[in-house]
Amino acid sequence: MPHSPSSDPATPGGPAPGPVALSVEGLGVTVSSGRLTAVRDVSFTVARGEAVGLVGESGSGKTLICRSVLGLLPPGCAVSEGEIALAGETLTGRSRREWERVRGTRVGAVFQDPASYLNPSLTVGRQLAEVLRVKLGLDRPRAGERAVELFAAVGLHDPAEVARRHPHELSGGMLQRVLIAIAVACAPDLLVADEATTALDVVVQAEVLELLARMRAEHDLALLLVSHDLAVIAEVCDRVLVAYAGELVEDGPAERVLTEPLHPYTEALLRVATVGDWERRELEVIPGAPPEVGARLPGCRFADRCAFAAPECLSGPVPLRETADGRRVRCVRSEEIDLSRAGARGTREVAV
Ligand SMILES: Nc1ncnc2c1ncn2[C@@H]1O[C@H](COP(=O)(O)OP(=O)(O)OP(=O)(O)O)[C@@H](O)[C@H]1O
Ligand SMILES: [Mg+2]
Repeated sequence: MPHSPSSDPATPGGPAPGPVALSVEGLGVTVSSGRLTAVRDVSFTVARGEAVGLVGESGSGKTLICRSVLGLLPPGCAVSEGEIALAGETLTGRSRREWERVRGTRVGAVFQDPASYLNPSLTVGRQLAEVLRVKLGLDRPRAGERAVELFAAVGLHDPAEVARRHPHELSGGMLQRVLIAIAVACAPDLLVADEATTALDVVVQAEVLELLARMRAEHDLALLLVSHDLAVIAEVCDRVLVAYAGELVEDGPAERVLTEPLHPYTEALLRVATVGDWERRELEVIPGAPPEVGARLPGCRFADRCAFAAPECLSGPVPLRETADGRRVRCVRSEEIDLSRAGARGTREVAV
């Protein structure tokens, strides 16, 4: 089902949205040199100033979606279908050079392992100053000064001293702040944060999340935030996208999706979040495994793990359809099933 990028990305009753910062329409991503489709039919928008969370179990395609938006897919992976537009400018099919122009100026990125995105042999101040010189055309002295200002703005104490250090001389939290400073240096419309706080301890994680929230408010930044931690998503995000086996299965206001899910997979994911440790819990709460990457299935990709699966779930591709109150769900039975009974009943009891 086409989801018009120009359509209102607001949550019903929520704050008025800004203009669309990111629009993804019918995105398909192949891996293994085009042999397998790992992401399919992904459509969503993020408005200026809006924070959208992307959740789903390991391998559901979150990183491939983020990297597509950044024009940074790994070798062997490619956008095979659909369109990506930043601030209305379509970028799919553009050259590497054009993506390089866009990265930093239109869209910034923060990942889980900041050290691997920095050059170990250059001071962090020099690296930020280079970005400012290349992307904004600042001269060397001004770029150096601006780098220190930006380090101060992301809460690094003694920013002039930090600027003189190499990446290995900084802690994980400090490195993540450096990366955020680089990501927002050229005032992008959108920041993509893929598990950006996962490797940090709880206190530093909270500080970095607070920083992201502040950057968003100060710069009217749109945020696409991937996290396996639903508490983080609940705290930061206005809207949540739920991915399963390379597709989006649900999209809606965070407080609604996280308390009254519409898709049986989202409901299971929420139950996972209430017990034990993540990797083990997932298997306990949702029996079975997601389909193999690229598997061609007759209907719903979650059907063989779903307590509510019925013959109609397998009768054809399931579209991500809009509900009466403006949410979206990829389930043909969402109106007739009672998700509150899923946990009590055991996941497989009523399966076909
Ligand atoms: N470079 C690659 N080559 C081949 N397959 C890949 C590659 N990157 C991802 N995939 C496959 O695509 C699927 C989606 O991967 P992706 O990294 O986007 O998942 P994810 O949701 O980010 O998972 P995680 O929560 O573990 O980070 C996975 O099944 C993975 O095996
Ligand atoms: Mg990932």
